[in-house]
Amino acid sequence: MSDDKLLNIGVCGVGTVGLAVIDIVNSQTAMLADRATCPVQLTHVGARREHVDHHYGDALVSRDVMDVARDPNVDVLVELIGGTTVAYDLIKLAIAEGKHVVTANKALIAEHGNELIALAETAGVQIRFEAAVAGGIPIIKVLRESLAANQITELAGIINGTGNFILTEMSTKGRAFDEVLAEAQALGYAEADPTFDIDGTDAAHKLVILSSLAFGIPLSIDAPVKQGINELTPADLEYAAALGYRVKHLGIARVSEAGVEMRVHPTLIPDNKQLASVDGVLNAVMVSGDAVGELVLVGPGAGGAATASSVCADVVDIARNMMGSGPALGVPATQLVAKPFIPAGDIASEWYVRLTAADRPGVMSDITHVLASHEISIESLVQKPPATGADEVPIILLTHLASESAMKVAMKEIMLLEEVHSEYALLRVEAFEH
Ligand SMILES: NC(=O)c1ccc[n+]([C@@H]2O[C@H](COP(=O)([O-])OP(=O)(O)OC[C@H]3O[C@@H](n4cnc5c(N)ncnc54)[C@H](OP(=O)(O)O)[C@@H]3O)[C@@H](O)[C@H]2O)c1
Repeated sequence: MSDDKLLNIGVCGVGTVGLAVIDIVNSQTAMLADRATCPVQLTHVGARREHVDHHYGDALVSRDVMDVARDPNVDVLVELIGGTTVAYDLIKLAIAEGKHVVTANKALIAEHGNELIALAETAGVQIRFEAAVAGGIPIIKVLRESLAANQITELAGIINGTGNFILTEMSTKGRAFDEVLAEAQALGYAEADPTFDIDGTDAAHKLVILSSLAFGIPLSIDAPVKQGINELTPADLEYAAALGYRVKHLGIARVSEAGVEMRVHPTLIPDNKQLASVDGVLNAVMVSGDAVGELVLVGPGAGGAATASSVCADVVDIARNMMGSGPALGVPATQLVAKPFIPAGDIASEWYVRLTAADRPGVMSDITHVLASHEISIESLVQKPPATGADEVPIILLTHLASESAMKVAMKEIMLLEEVHSEYALLRVEAFEH
């Protein structure tokens, strides 16, 4: 901290979140000073180009963001650039220069967090990333601090607002995926390149961070089993609804004696579960702790102001902790304990299956025979009447628990049945009754 007991911050990246942070720091000066126990001042801005409509007050402005990391007057470097290249170099330099770091960058923390956090701990500086998961929801602090007395066994979350917006529109209005994605882009929810939002990568990055905090394991970017939302059809959402379920894109992590399972995928959730009613761009995270039981945090997962709320809270936290304490992942990086990851094929779920078959006697018994031969039992089954003039019928069934590998082998055999068409949908069901 500066000698005159000011906390000087340098903000690099002046986009949606960077500008919202600058706005809070400049407009909530007294409140932040009270809460941080010292004034928080914007000293330096790293902006690679001029924006005529941006105002940074008295702060120095550098076109080279590395100048902010080298500035001896900066106590906390706030990285709001995104990506894993410039941001990585910038944070490494800031740590080497003895600065505390705040970032909203989930990709960077998921991919390079082990290294950066260890470097920060060795250098005796703090690194904070509350905004990296679920934007404005303070889930990192809850896991790291508020639930310190709990063994956390399970967490599950709707942690990508764009994906949730798309699924909500598809299920409540029967709209097609491509059409809703185009609207999400027009509304500014989805990135210009929405690949990470729809293929599950963004949610996987966030799940990696949550799992590390919840289970005390190293950040493990390759661990999550990953499936996006792009193959879902409005018909699947409709059939799920008829069976009493909502389809949500979830990140799920569990730990047991056998190891850790981490997965992001579209999931059928019973209608009466809290997560099922979290719609639109909202995010939600459910955590199960042995002492506290189950709790659910719901709130805005994105947006400049909501995300800046978390970034500024981290700055305040750093000011409060200046005397040292508070390892970034709850325990010092040197004490993180790796655990085995359960292979995808061994992870058991209940399953939703939709397939199409000829409308002939004996088809159902052939299908159930194949499932039974793999010890997969059926929980419920719906056979829709054929459309007028068609001689094929959609068959929807829910299974009891079965491993992914057993299910896949059974589906392969079912696809070989003469009466069954080769296209099918296979989704996991999560009743959260563990
Ligand atoms: N937006 C959200 O709701 C949200 C929520 C949670 C977390 N986050 C995270 O917050 C971070 C920032 O997101 P954002 O939405 O604010 O992004 P953004 O609006 O695209 O802003 C990024 C800023 O970084 C600057 N920048 C990009 N590359 C740079 C480089 N090589 N050198 C210097 N500056 C560079 C851009 O400069 P120009 O001004 O020249 O383009 C822009 O000002 C990301 O890590 C994101 O994942 C965002």
